[in-house]
Amino acid sequence: MFKLLILLLYLGLNRYLVVSEPNIPVVITTWWFSNSTVKAWEVLKEGGSALDAIEQGASVCEVQQCDGTVGYGGSPDENSETTLDALIMDGKTMNVGAVGALRRIKSAISVARHVLEHTKHSFLAGELATQFAVQMGFKEESLSTSESKQLWLKWHNQNHCQPNFWTSVKPDPSKYCGPYHQIKKNEDMRPEVQMIVDKYNHDTIGMVAVDSNGDVAAGTSTNGAKYKIPGRVGDSPIPGAGAYADNEVGGAAATGDGDIMLRFLPSFLAVEEMRRGASPTEAAQTAVKRIAAHYPDFMGAVIALTKTGQYGAACHGIPSFPYVIQDKTRNIFEVITIKC
Ligand SMILES: *[C@@H]1O[C@H](CO)[C@@H](O)[C@H](O)[C@H]1NC(C)=O
Repeated sequence: MFKLLILLLYLGLNRYLVVSEPNIPVVITTWWFSNSTVKAWEVLKEGGSALDAIEQGASVCEVQQCDGTVGYGGSPDENSETTLDALIMDGKTMNVGAVGALRRIKSAISVARHVLEHTKHSFLAGELATQFAVQMGFKEESLSTSESKQLWLKWHNQNHCQPNFWTSVKPDPSKYCGPYHQIKKNEDMRPEVQMIVDKYNHDTIGMVAVDSNGDVAAGTSTNGAKYKIPGRVGDSPIPGAGAYADNEVGGAAATGDGDIMLRFLPSFLAVEEMRRGASPTEAAQTAVKRIAAHYPDFMGAVIALTKTGQYGAACHGIPSFPYVIQDKTRNIFEVITIKC
């Protein structure tokens, strides 16, 4: 009887120990961007840092132009130029490197890493971020391709600059191209019309990783929204919006209607919810619901990962949302698709 008790106690304790052992290293990635996940996993598996995994993983998408929404040659702005946004956050030091509206440099996340490691700043933008990148040895080159030029020509010449992101201007932006002028307060003001977006308009690669030391990092890279107004910076490079990481808790990343999402800092909120004891899925749901309460038609998703390797996601405004995970319990990456 006594022996049985000891055995039961042992089994119970053993199970508890197995369950509580952290499942690290681990990486999760938005959408079906598995090649980036594979690259990040290679880094983590060899004992590399979460920061390296994020940078090298996201770089794969920048080179492969994932869905045309990451890297060069996608999402031309109103002037037909592709500009890039990227963020990398170190959850160990709470240091951030980010670039917004980066011009003529292909490897946005690596420029962000240089902002993190070679400056006391957190965020560089536009033409002057390009100057910084060139100083750091990055190659300056056009980000346009024949595909992005074709996309722009069709938008401009056939579709009369539809869709676009203007409101309360004349001529009527829902019918005509610019240049636009503001409508004065006493003139006819139309309410903001939410843009109908196709599913390839707002994808971003967002990644969160925990390395074998237990260090957390997160990052994003994107070429933003198609036909954006030149100068537009979305949610992706904003710490707490596009991604967030904190060694004490874990990390999160977001993708979707960036102009709306960045107003709610969904990645920060998801991390704070996990800090308060929420599961990653609950945390992501809270972040998504906060936005939906104000913008029921918004489209987006949040992925979340704890420092011990528990993960989850939530989405809104699309039928389903896939994300990719790789950890040591899997021989290869797994794509998990959730319903929204
Ligand atoms: C992964 O990369 C290969 C080329 O190396 C490419 O053919 C494939 O489409 C990529 N997969 C995804 C999901 O992008």
